[in-house]
Amino acid sequence: MGWTAVEIKEMRGTDAMNTFRTIEWKNNRVLMIDQRKLPGEEVYVECETFEEVADCIRKLVIRGAPAIGIAAAMGMALGAGSISNDSPYEKFAERMRTISEHLAMTRPTAVNLFWAIGKMNRLISERRGRKVEEIKNLLISEAIKIQEEDLRKCMQIGDNGAELIRDNSVVLTHCNAGGLATAGYGTALGVIRSAFRQGKNISVISSETRPVLQGARLTTWELERDGIPVRLITDSMAGHLMSKGIVDSVVVGADRVASNGDTANKIGTYSLSVLAKHHNIPFYVAAPTSTIDNECLSGEDIVIEQRNPEEVTHMDGKRISAEVNAINPAFDVTPAGNIECLITEVGLFKKPYTKSLGRLKKKDQ
Ligand code: MRU
Repeated sequence: MGWTAVEIKEMRGTDAMNTFRTIEWKNNRVLMIDQRKLPGEEVYVECETFEEVADCIRKLVIRGAPAIGIAAAMGMALGAGSISNDSPYEKFAERMRTISEHLAMTRPTAVNLFWAIGKMNRLISERRGRKVEEIKNLLISEAIKIQEEDLRKCMQIGDNGAELIRDNSVVLTHCNAGGLATAGYGTALGVIRSAFRQGKNISVISSETRPVLQGARLTTWELERDGIPVRLITDSMAGHLMSKGIVDSVVVGADRVASNGDTANKIGTYSLSVLAKHHNIPFYVAAPTSTIDNECLSGEDIVIEQRNPEEVTHMDGKRISAEVNAINPAFDVTPAGNIECLITEVGLFKKPYTKSLGRLKKKDQ
């Protein structure tokens, strides 16, 4: 089920790493590794309808900004498949608008979801008047292309960022910005993977990432499979370790980067950035340019997803708190001033971000 060693070798020209498939288009179905079950069980969910894909995104079967973008694109291709070839173009386009709205309602913060849906919708509007069957096939190819390009971009992000990681150093990462959050290889974990592959003697500290534990469950699973040394901490331990000089750099992913560089990422990222700044530790964000939202001028404009409070009050279905309410914002915003450098597939961007990101051409994204 994973990328085969040969596939990875062809794309990378070297040994296999990260041999599992986050998401795959197969026989007109979408397969996803069920991330809620990792690391205990490695099982795959099969979606036959766009509604099932939307449900998987909402319930975190698949998560991570680039991965949910790919899922939404594949969901649209599945939805298109359910429309008759005999439909007139206008009817087809109208139905596709409903399908894309359904997928867009799943999660609000990661811009990659809307970026991928926008790409698929543009394909439809540019083919106005063409045969529905032809557009349906093109939508499948486009979704697969988004996935393949994401894998390439992640490898490039990794290679671009690796130069920032010192030999003999300890890197802290938060949440999971790995192969599971992308088509493969990862963004923040891509940087770590590339540095490790270059022979740098590095080790990783993964913060557990309450309440959904993406760090504890997913990041440690991925790094352990790759043989990259990793140690787990609870989120509250980061400041202490930084004060003891144990952390040399922090690398995280992103869900949406505003045009001024403010960055939304998993809840807890902001606190880590403040701690890193206080301790003079470089804080890097790694993301594809599809995560940069030019329409968003600052972090103020980013919608923060509020998830079910039970993620905080319960664990494995059992209440761990007294009968009180909880607050559960899934993301926070790290101010641009706390970010040393934004690592993308087209290169490194530095402060002031309004200026450096402004040079990024629309076509690059
Ligand atoms: O709620 P999640 O698990 O989808 O949140 C994921 C993150 O915050 C990741 O750090 C981000 O999407 C970057 S993934 C390359």
